[in-house]
Parts: sequence; structure tokens; C-alpha cells
Amino acid sequence: MYMKKNTKIGSKITFLDSVDSTNNYAAKLVNENKIENGQVIMADFQGEGRGQRGATWHSERGMNILISIFLELDNLSVKNQTLISKYVAISIYDALKSLGLQPKIKWPNDLLINGKKICGILIENQFTGHQIKSSIIGIGLNVNQVVFEIDKITSLSLEIGTKQDRMSILGILINSFNKNLDYIEKNSDYIDEIYLRNLYLLEERSNFYNEKLGDFVGVITGVDHDGKLLVSTEGRIISFDVKELKFC
Ligand code: BTN
Repeated sequence: MYMKKNTKIGSKITFLDSVDSTNNYAAKLVNENKIENGQVIMADFQGEGRGQRGATWHSERGMNILISIFLELDNLSVKNQTLISKYVAISIYDALKSLGLQPKIKWPNDLLINGKKICGILIENQFTGHQIKSSIIGIGLNVNQVVFEIDKITSLSLEIGTKQDRMSILGILINSFNKNLDYIEKNSDYIDEIYLRNLYLLEERSNFYNEKLGDFVGVITGVDHDGKLLVSTEGRIISFDVKELKFC
């Protein structure tokens, strides 16, 4: 049993005008014991939005979806933590797909449309010993922003061609998270399968960088149980963790 019984995401949603980071806000509520399982925190603006690897997450005020979902867990060992990360990726994948888009999951958990990033995920877990007690799932989904400071970023409105209603999109996202909850318990193979089937650059010759290997050409062949990316290069398969590999 990984999930608390009767978990339902989004029964309580807290809307904030402005916050440092929705993940920080959720963490504070966790420490104060003031958060419910499945609660969603949404903000219009983050002053210190955080991305992966210590990056900053910029988002124009009122344009996008900036949320953190709080999920309580039961007996999920640290060994299985990639299950949560894959569950999150495939849930957002399903939501984007239902909007008529063709998303890809870039390992470990970015969502891309036509090679451009539309959504970033920052998962922060709370532990007791070797178990994950709960998870704060931070999601930044670009909805109506059309100008970005960096290249290779896109949004729903750029891809669909019209302004989108953020609240409807939030509803679609939450539904998708709830629909896939069951698979965490009953069929994690399904989660692995959907994740792998939609992995960006799977089985394609691609350019990477690794400190030891330098620039190299390889082919992504899969993701192992620990969530490491498997890349075949020069006749052998090497597994990389997030810090060890850059896509070029
Ligand atoms: C990444 O791709 O680098 C992850 C970006 C995660 C951004 C979201 S926005 C809501 C939540 N609060 C944060 O400070 N970060 C996440």
C-alpha cells in the first residue's frame, strides 16, 4: 500500500495572489501540520519560483499554472521514489494529450511539445527513515504566456493558438492525477509502460554530455528501476543519474 486510503487530489485548493514559491508554502504548512492530503496550493505569482538543479522558475503574473500538490504516502520506500515522479509525468502527459497535443516526456520529468518545454516538475519528499512519508509535487505549466526569456519554451496558448482558461486546465490536470492514482497501487507496470512509450528521444541517436565521456552520441534505451536513464553508446549501455547527464 503506497497511498493513503481515499486519497483525492484537489478537494481543497488554496489560491494565493503572490508567494515566494508554492512548494515552500506547502512545506511550511506541512511543518505546521496545517495541510490536507491531496491539497493543492496555486499561486498567480511566485517571487522565488524554484526549478530543478537549483534553477529559478520564472513565470509571468497570472498567466500560467503554478501549483503544488501535497500527497501523503504509506510504505513507499526511497527505492521506489521514481514511481511518484513517473506518475506525475504521465498524469500531465494525459492532460496535455486530452487537449489535442502530442506531448513527450523528457527524462526525468519535463513535458515537451515539439521539442519545446511546456511544463516543469519539482518533487520534494518528506522522509521518515527510509520511507517517503509525503511528497510536495510542484508543477509549472505554461498556459497563456507567449514571450519567454529563453529559447525552446512553449505554452498551451502558443501550441493551441488561442487563450486558455486556467481554471479549466487546472480541472483537467486534477482529474488526470486522480484517474492515475489507482495505477500507483495496482499496476505500476502501466505507469512504467506509458512513461517509457512517450519518452523523448527514445531509440533515437542523440547528443549528450557527461563529465567523464565529454560530448558523445548515444541512444536512449530506457529507464531503470532507480530512475536512471539508460543510454547505449559504443556498444555498451551506461546508466546515468540526473546530475551526470546533459542533453545537447
Ligand atoms: C523545472 O523544470 O526546473 C521544475 C520547475 C518547477 C516549477 C514549479 S512552479 C510551482 C512549484 N513551485 C516552485 O517553486 N517550483 C514549482
